[in-house]
Amino acid sequence: MNKKIILTGDRPTGRLHIGHYVGSLRGRVELQDSGKFDEIYIMIADAQALTDNAEHPEKVRNNIMEVALDYLGVGLDPNKVTILIQSQIPELTELTFYYMNLVTVSRLQRNPTVKSEIQMRNFESSIPVGFFTYPISQASDITAFDATTVPAGEDQEPMLEQTREIVRKFNSVYGETLVEPEILLPSNKAALRLPGTDGKAKMSKSLGNCIYLADTEEEIRTKVMSMFTDPNHLRVQDPGQVEGNTVFTYLDAFCKDEYFAEFLPDYANLEELKAHYRRGGLGDVKVKKFLNKVMLETLAPIRARRGEYEKKIPEVYEILHQGSIAAEKKAAATLDRVKNAMKINYFDNEEMLADAAAKYAK
Ligand code: TRP
Repeated sequence: MNKKIILTGDRPTGRLHIGHYVGSLRGRVELQDSGKFDEIYIMIADAQALTDNAEHPEKVRNNIMEVALDYLGVGLDPNKVTILIQSQIPELTELTFYYMNLVTVSRLQRNPTVKSEIQMRNFESSIPVGFFTYPISQASDITAFDATTVPAGEDQEPMLEQTREIVRKFNSVYGETLVEPEILLPSNKAALRLPGTDGKAKMSKSLGNCIYLADTEEEIRTKVMSMFTDPNHLRVQDPGQVEGNTVFTYLDAFCKDEYFAEFLPDYANLEELKAHYRRGGLGDVKVKKFLNKVMLETLAPIRARRGEYEKKIPEVYEILHQGSIAAEKKAAATLDRVKNAMKINYFDNEEMLADAAAKYAK
């Protein structure tokens, strides 16, 4: 072994937005092109999405294609990565069932991400069992592919922690079998948690504060121009605050020095622009117009590539189908190892058969 393997994924509950992009998609493409990984699996986690959408399977189903198009749009290359649909890999469910015995209810209750999700969904008194246990299923996703590296946002840290605990527990009970993964957080600090356009902590579809990868130029402009800034920066000449100012947070996440030469040559870089804003004399509209150009520059190639794939949906289906077949092969090998370690592979273990025969031999 000692291969370097990536597994990561997304729940298909909506189109992907720029929070996904800076938080993980952009990094995935870099990792894909880095040549440093032996295998890369990108999972469309439809089964996980169903854990809190059981009554709306069509929502999950319809968004599988949206997410796949977004993946291809940002430049994930099916020749370099395996894109798979979680529900098509039954081995994952089987692994989950065995891992469940290694995790306590109270441990799941302490998972901070699950905790806050339960609150957000008003599930407190009626949590679906599948939802409650999804961190265990996520441990199956990760370990099934022998993933060493899980690129994800910091909200996924508790899932990784839980996965590592399951791995250690499994290995100590049944012998060295599973690989312990690490999370890989985005290197750009602003990208760790991109706020919504309204300045709220998180981008979320229900809050209507997202910029989607597939948004048109017009939609992007409208959203950027109505963005939240410093509420005390009322007149152009007022000094403004940069920290916690959504427009600047976005610039931190997306801006490159070369954009200044192209779109705003009065400044050499973001630091100069921030200094001017802090000292006063720089209006929000000017900064927003610049951000709009930066966003268009970032998103135009993604939208164009997505558009090309929209014209060949059967090909995208085939990418998902072939990816899922390849992924199942990998997961099946891990499940074999797991059953072998647990000695529940009754019908393909000659030693066990010989032992049983010897035991009952008169
Ligand atoms: N929980 C992740 C999310 O909500 C999706 C996901 C499912 C995932 N399985 C995974 C992420 C395995 C990383 C690794 O976006």
